[in-house]
Amino acid sequence: MLIARPFTPEALKLHPFSCGEQELDEWLVQYAGQNERKNNTRTTLLLDERAGRVAGYYSMRTFELQAADAESAVGRSRGYPVPAVLIAKLAVDTDYQGKGVGRLLLFDALQKLLGAADSVGFELVVVHALHEDAACFYLKCGFRRFLDHDLSLFLTTKDLRVTFAPANPS
Ligand SMILES: CC(C)(COP(=O)(O)OP(=O)(O)OC[C@H]1O[C@@H](n2cnc3c(N)ncnc32)[C@H](O)[C@@H]1OP(=O)(O)O)[C@@H](O)C(=O)NCCC(=O)NCCS
Repeated sequence: MLIARPFTPEALKLHPFSCGEQELDEWLVQYAGQNERKNNTRTTLLLDERAGRVAGYYSMRTFELQAADAESAVGRSRGYPVPAVLIAKLAVDTDYQGKGVGRLLLFDALQKLLGAADSVGFELVVVHALHEDAACFYLKCGFRRFLDHDLSLFLTTKDLRVTFAPANPS
């Protein structure tokens, strides 16, 4: 059973995490803890409790989109920066890829943001994909590309509310 838990360094001692992108593997081991302590990013681990290992993780932090970049997402010019949340990292161990675990992780993140949106203002959820394959994953999960940055994608907070709206009882 896979279960999402806040980052703890102990969880990483269980089994080495390897997603095929060295940068993301190293960040989890070397920097997730210190960023957590500085309140810079918040990392969530998806634990496979039976196997005793980390199946995936994501990290989020606040972000500000400059007015010029915001135009490419929201379609009209702004005279001021747009508050956003950045999905700074998201990765699935290669042993778990292609089984819906990435989507599960992303939806866990978005569900948390939906809750946060009631008390913190932000207009967009933004991700800078490492490569086109990752961008395709986000597109499949409902994100849209910025008009002039192929590897930057976003979801509006309005989209979030629609996606996760409770189903109307019939
Ligand atoms: C990208 C990544 C997170 C996807 O996780 P995953 O568990 O393999 O993806 P899922 O099985 O949940 O797939 C969800 C959807 O995205 C699609 N998808 C996943 N990887 C894809 C890829 N490389 N190219 C195109 N589509 C992809 C799947 O086909 C699926 O769509 P479907 O439901 O219509 O079939 C994972 O491959 C990974 O961690 N890669 C290495 C690290 C990385 O690149 N992270 C992203 C940094 S921006």
